[in-house]
Amino acid sequence: MSHTACSYILDKLKAIENPVLGLSTGATPEGLYRYLIQSYQEKKVSFQNLKTFNLDEYINLDKNHPNSYFHYMQKRFFQYVDILEENQNLPNGKAENLKAECQAYEDKISQAGKIDLQVLGIGVNGHIGFNEPGTAFTSRTHVVTLDDCTRTANAKYFASLNEVPSKAITMGIKTIMESKEIVLLVTGRKKASALKRLLNGEVDEEFPASILKIHPNATIIADEKALIELS
Ligand code: F6R
Repeated sequence: MSHTACSYILDKLKAIENPVLGLSTGATPEGLYRYLIQSYQEKKVSFQNLKTFNLDEYINLDKNHPNSYFHYMQKRFFQYVDILEENQNLPNGKAENLKAECQAYEDKISQAGKIDLQVLGIGVNGHIGFNEPGTAFTSRTHVVTLDDCTRTANAKYFASLNEVPSKAITMGIKTIMESKEIVLLVTGRKKASALKRLLNGEVDEEFPASILKIHPNATIIADEKALIELS
């Protein structure tokens, strides 16, 4: 999955002069980042003209906290490649005025032009970004309260469940849908039901990823375990 995603994404980026790439964090894209780093080290690609926008960030975690998404991106991708620091964008979860931060993030995305390609993962509850079930399809970058199941899924990275932040800033569903292209990565047995529901179910705000069915250019790249519930 990661290798396929890497080749797919690099082919797209190479065809665009100043590409804008939307990024996600979590376990799913870790392999993708490893392959992207490898391609850079083998001089198959440069990211000097690339601008990136991450989907989300926890609120109230210092950006250098080992579990912040800022830290994740530095550690797993940015520090190994030539993406200019000023082109790496994540929401600031420590902003004093979170509402203004959300608007500023939207403005930055608009100023960059549209996101050419947005990489997504999916939560077991169907969330994309941190847009939990019930989020309006019209939502833009906003503050969210994380579902218990999302906090539980992410607790493995923290010392205890209590330490998992309860709030985050996330790109909204409308913001994500405005990307010119979307690639959804799905890996592992735990995501099989979500993938089945996405492919077979209705477009429904109770299952946020379902909106991707009406995106004009969305691709799913899944591994075999994630596909196990589909005939
Ligand atoms: C992460 C994000 C989330 C994750 C999803 C899956 O930036 O926006 O939607 O993609 O929670 O997480 P993993 O990959 O850890 O299973």
